[in-house]
Amino acid sequence: MRFFLLLCLGLVSSAVAEPLSEQRQAELQNMLNHDCGSCHGLPPKGGLGPSLLAADLSKRSDQLLFDAIQNGRSGTPMPAWRPFLSPDEIHWIIARLRQPSH
Ligand code: HEC
Repeated sequence: MRFFLLLCLGLVSSAVAEPLSEQRQAELQNMLNHDCGSCHGLPPKGGLGPSLLAADLSKRSDQLLFDAIQNGRSGTPMPAWRPFLSPDEIHWIIARLRQPSH
């Protein structure tokens, strides 16, 4: 099932850019669970940081989420991930968060 989801995401992202390798997608998923999860929870229903569940993100634009992830939110614990994530990888994470279950 997880492989199937990754495959779908790979197909979706290939419409806009080179798809991320399966290995990189697995690394990003791991990062979401552990790094992001340490503040946002696993599932990411909120903790130190707000909920990142798909239902709660539905009112948030991709641009807002992209900016938060790339640049962080100064004055808050949300760090900037720019040194670690390319724009394509940030888009992958946003698409992943928008999946109804993860
Ligand atoms: C050290 C704790 C911490 C970590 C680690 C962290 N975040 Fe955050 N994040 C926060 C906090 C706190 C906020 C709320 C900032 C504010 O008040 O604007 C936030 C905000 C966000 C937002 C904006 C949400 C919204 O509704 O405006 C997104 C998206 C987000 N984080 C994604 C991530 C992702 C993806 C990761 C991992 C790559 C991550 N965060 C890792 C603490 C963290």
